Parts: sequence; structure tokens; C-alpha cells
Amino acid sequence: MRQTINLRLALIALIAIIASTAGTTAVFYRIFKQQVSADLKINAEMLKDTGIFQNLYAAAGGKKEAVDINALQGLEHEKVRITWIDGTGEVLYDNDASGLQNHLDRPEIRSALERGAGESVRNSDTMNMNTYYYAVRLDNGTILRLSTQAYTISRIFLEAAPIVLLILGLTLAACILIGHLLSASIMEPVKRMAEQFEEQEDGSVTGGQTLTYYKELEPFVEKIRIQHENILAAAKSRQDFTANVSHELKTPLTAISGYAELLENHLADPGQEEHIARQIRSNAERLLALINDIIRLSELDHKELPRQYVPVDLSEVTELCCDNLRVYADQKKVNLEYRGDPVTVTADRDLLRELAENIIRNAVQYNREGGFVKVYAGTENGRPILRVTDDGIGIAKDQQERIFERFYRVDKSRSRASGGTGLGLAIVKHIAQLHEAEIRVESEPGKGTEISVIF
Ligand SMILES: Nc1ncnc2c1ncn2[C@@H]1O[C@H](COP(=O)(O)OP(=O)(O)OP(=O)(O)O)[C@@H](O)[C@H]1O
Ligand SMILES: [Mg+2]
Repeated sequence: MRQTINLRLALIALIAIIASTAGTTAVFYRIFKQQVSADLKINAEMLKDTGIFQNLYAAAGGKKEAVDINALQGLEHEKVRITWIDGTGEVLYDNDASGLQNHLDRPEIRSALERGAGESVRNSDTMNMNTYYYAVRLDNGTILRLSTQAYTISRIFLEAAPIVLLILGLTLAACILIGHLLSASIMEPVKRMAEQFEEQEDGSVTGGQTLTYYKELEPFVEKIRIQHENILAAAKSRQDFTANVSHELKTPLTAISGYAELLENHLADPGQEEHIARQIRSNAERLLALINDIIRLSELDHKELPRQYVPVDLSEVTELCCDNLRVYADQKKVNLEYRGDPVTVTADRDLLRELAENIIRNAVQYNREGGFVKVYAGTENGRPILRVTDDGIGIAKDQQERIFERFYRVDKSRSRASGGTGLGLAIVKHIAQLHEAEIRVESEPGKGTEISVIF
């Protein structure tokens, strides 16, 4: 980042210097050109006013050969060329011997003949020099032309190049230095923020510290902090999950292996084979259930999995679940009642069935003989709702949030004895999130539980 700031500053300086040099050169060159032309004009008018040329011409009787050009010697000037031309373009006098040919085709001469005065600028033979001309018609019809040479814009630029380069170098160096200091001062708080983040991670800084030094960075820092916490939480939950999975898998596997060993070594009492076989089968079933639940959860974790969200009648799905669970409820001697009003939700039918089944099964499972489970699917306050009420064992207040955690069971031995893995409600929570549904729990130990899913 610092490098980028430095580089950009240097680039800005470079562009600024080049642009301002080019701009000022162009402006000054215009003024300079105007000044050269104005000087030539003044000098030509002054020479005209002296009357020297008019007198000489009159003395020669208007004849070219008779003009006494020696009388003009005093006018010679190394910077200004003076050319005197008659009305036909023939040169009467020129202090520069190189241009004695007819001058009638020159634009400044033509406009002097037509309008009394004329000027033009031409590229001179000399490299990077311009020649400025100013011609004025005298009363006797002859023309006096003054010309001088001046630098072209590129020449001026070249002349100024060493100074411009020097300024450029100095400014660039200053910019790099300023950029360096500036980026250091900009980055310092950000660096300190990063350090504090690390310290907080180490636990060496206790909470409640403000990490922001720039107000503008506050939302950004907050976002990073939340993301950071989420990442840590996710890592922790993954760790817990792995530990739990290993533990949960180990228990039935140890049992299976133990029973198999008894059989292998003929240590089982005669007549116990059947019991051992049943134990092996129930533990194997438990393992299967566990693995199925883990697979379900990991499937649900992949939200990009194609799902079919279609209009589904919640009451129809729920009624079907109740029908399926009736045998189980009869076994547990729990009275399962269903009531429903048709209501449509946009959902994945299979997931919805899984959600309802898990909640209703729990209500039957964590119940008592002769207890009841009342299931209602319909509308409440204008929103589709699935409500499962039981008068079972209930859940203590402090456990009500935790039952949605993976592998969390209020009473481990009871749940395990009835084949529970502690993943059912975690799956329910996941499905509810996918459908943007809200879950509410109301429960009192010994009295019963009511779980509602509001879509
Ligand atoms: N209706 C209920 N009444 C009392 N306790 C409940 C009820 N529903 C859930 N619980 C408690 O919440 C815990 C978690 O339930 P969850 O459905 O996630 O797991 P599980 O039933 O133990 O196993 P499974 O994965 O087979 O469903 C249960 O072990 C139980 O202690
Ligand atoms: Mg359950």
C-alpha cells in the first residue's frame, strides 16, 4: 500500500510538472511572439517616419540603379534585417546580402502593397528558429521590411530543458520523500490496529479496547472483527463437532467390538447369543443413524446444493408426518393429535417433512406414558405456522437455546437409550434457516414443551 501511495504521488508530480511546464511555455511563447512582432512593427514605423528612404528614393529620381545605398550603412544591425523593395518586388537595399531575388511573392510584401502593412512568420533555414517579418508601404510606393529571428517553441523548450529537468528531479525527490512520510503516517494507525487485533487474539489485551483510529475505518474494522469472531467460532464448532463425532462413533463401535469378541472367544453364556446379536444390531443401527445425520448436516451446510423451493401445503406435509409417527407414538403410549388448516409455504418438500418429523418425534420421545402431543399446522397472525405441543418432560430455561447445538442432549443417557444422536434439532435449525423461518421454544420442566416454526 505504501509503495502504491509513493508511486502515485510521484506520478501525480510528474504529470503536474510536465503539464504546467507545457502550459506555461505555450502561454509565454504566445506573449513572446506578440512581443517580437510588436517590436518589429514599432521599428519599421520609426524608420518610415525618419523619411530616410523616401528622401533617398526622391534623390535617385525613382531609379533603382541611382539609389545611393551607402547612405544607409549606419542602419545596419546584426539582429534586424532591413530590406527595401520597390513596387515591383525588386530589392533596392538589403543589409543581408543573401536575399536579393524578387520579393513580390512574399505574403507580408503582398499585404503591404495591398493594405499598407503586412506581417508573417516563417520557419527559418536555421534549426529551430523562426523569422518574423513586418513590411510597411512608404508614401512613394516602395516597401520597407524588417525581419528578425527568434527561437521556436521547441527551441525554447529545449533551452529550458535543463532547468525543467532539475526542477522535475527536485520535485520528484520531494514528492517521494513526502509520499514516504505521508504513507508512513497514514499506515501507522492501520498497523497499530492490526497489532492490536493480534494482541487481542493472544489474549494479551483485554476486551473493550477501541481498535479504530480512523472514523472512516470503523465499519470496516467492525466487519473484520465480526468476521474474525465468526471464523473463530466456526473453527471452535468444527473442533467440537469432530471431537463429538469421534466420541459418538466410538461408543457403539466399542460395544459392537466387545460383543463380537465375546462371541469369538466363546465367552458368552449359552442362550445369550440372541441378546448379544440384538445389542450388535442396535449399536450398528445407532451408528447408521448417526452417520446418516452427519451426512444430512453436511449436505445442509452446502447451501449451493440445488433445492426445489415450490409452493407446498404445510398442513398436508405435517399430517403425513403424524401418520408416519403414529405407530411410534402408540409404542410409547403417547396420544398424538393432529389439527390443520391448508396453508401454502414456499419450501423444499423433503426438507419440510424432515423438519416436522424431527420436532414431532422429539415430542413423542421426550414424553411420558399416557402423555399427549398436539400438532397444529396452519396460519397464525397471517403467517404459516407449525406448532407442536407436548406435556412431556420439558426443558429447563438455560437448556432451551442449547438443544439446537450439534450433539447436545439434555439427558444424554435417556436420549441415547432411545437412539437419539443429538443432531435432530441441529438439522431442524438448519432447515429453518434455509427457509428463513423462525423457531420459538416455550417449555417448563415437568410440564411440557411447545415448539413453533413460523414461516
Ligand atoms: N419436546 C421435547 N421435550 C423435552 N426435551 C426435548 C424435546 N425436544 C428435544 N428435547 C431435548 O433436546 C435434545 C436435542 O434434541 P435433538 O432432536 O437434537 O436430539 P435427539 O433427539 O437426542 O437425537 P436425534 O438426533 O435422534 O433427534 C434432546 O436430547 C432432548 O434432551
Ligand atoms: Mg430428536
